[in-house]
Amino acid sequence: MTAAAEEQVGHRQLVEHLTESGVLGADWQPVFEAVPRAEFIPETVWVEGDGGVLVPLYRTQDPQRWRELAYADDAIITQVDDGHPALDGTGRRISSSASMPTVVAQMLAHCAAQPGQRVLEIGTGTGYNAALLAQRLDAGNVVTIEIDPELAQTARNALTAAGYDAVTVVTGDGAQGYPPAAPFDRVLSTTAVQQVPYDWVDQTRPGGLVITPWGTDYYNGGLLVLTVTEEHTALGCLVDKASFMTLRQQRLTRPGLTLTAEDDAHATCSYTDIHPADIANGHVAFDACIALAIRVPHCAMSYAPPELDTDGEGILWLIDAHSGSWARLHHHPDHDGPYRVLQSGSRHLWDEIHTNYHWWLNAGRPPADRWRFTITPEGQHIQLGPRR
Ligand SMILES: C[S@@+](CC[C@H](N)C(=O)[O-])C[C@H]1O[C@@H](n2cnc3c(N)ncnc32)[C@H](O)[C@@H]1O
Repeated sequence: MTAAAEEQVGHRQLVEHLTESGVLGADWQPVFEAVPRAEFIPETVWVEGDGGVLVPLYRTQDPQRWRELAYADDAIITQVDDGHPALDGTGRRISSSASMPTVVAQMLAHCAAQPGQRVLEIGTGTGYNAALLAQRLDAGNVVTIEIDPELAQTARNALTAAGYDAVTVVTGDGAQGYPPAAPFDRVLSTTAVQQVPYDWVDQTRPGGLVITPWGTDYYNGGLLVLTVTEEHTALGCLVDKASFMTLRQQRLTRPGLTLTAEDDAHATCSYTDIHPADIANGHVAFDACIALAIRVPHCAMSYAPPELDTDGEGILWLIDAHSGSWARLHHHPDHDGPYRVLQSGSRHLWDEIHTNYHWWLNAGRPPADRWRFTITPEGQHIQLGPRR
């Protein structure tokens, strides 16, 4: 089979997969069919190498693998370290990616943009999502902003090559929206925020929607949908899961501490029956993770389950980079608990998590969509809404 034929097969299979899994409704299915993802994937992408670093994969050197990635239902890393990888050519931090097609489809479904409406996308990345919007809405109604000039130019080229040159690709800070083209019916962010920028609300028509992934240092994995009111505030809640990199200005604190045996010796030791997955695994404990993300600020969490650790031990870390406080919980899959916890520093991070997890249990385990978000010019306010 020729490379072009293989790409066509890959494209068809991806759309079939999205249709069968139910994420593509009748309105978006022909749109995904019309826009081949591979046309927006750059020649160089990044994959995980040994030791957790990111290494480049060149289409010219491994066209087969590149094609597989281009049509897999998975995110593809398209830039590392804001375009400045290390001298040895490896990368540390993902700074742009083509999002997982399932997530793209889910977000577009929540966005519910109709032909004729005007949309501002934040985070152009490859331009693929902007192309899907253009295919459905008319390219002239789509404005997309990318902070990285090189990425913006690559996306502009890809959009033009695919026939969507009427899309406006702006190089700039999407946190400020794009006043010259406002108001919009939708502001759709493909970067996560900790605080929703008020400019997005201000530039959306009353009745319009702001859709954005949302998260905090503790947990970054909710999809927030807000409706803009006549008074130009926005009200809404988390409607789904969505894990995205954040706006450059709102990057999450990266947990990282170098501890010695002496640090451990000076830490306070306690025991808990809380299984780490119940407070850390967003797939199975989404509602608890969201409650902790809201109620325990500035607490970076990372959890490596036992299967990822060479010693077969699961480790949960809690770190407040500002005060240097930390907590660590170890669990072995063969032991049901209690689990040993060490904590140290001016903040007792484990105690905070323990208290707030019990608050959540005692409150009847409120689901993520009970948290009401209000965005005003004064800022973001989150409050638990009434039971439904
Ligand atoms: C997950 S990628 C977006 C994927 C993209 N929608 C696509 O279809 O390929 C997030 C993008 O947001 C960009 N970004 C981060 N902060 C930004 C900001 N303040 N304004 C505009 N873009 C930003 C990043 O450079 C990155 O390209």
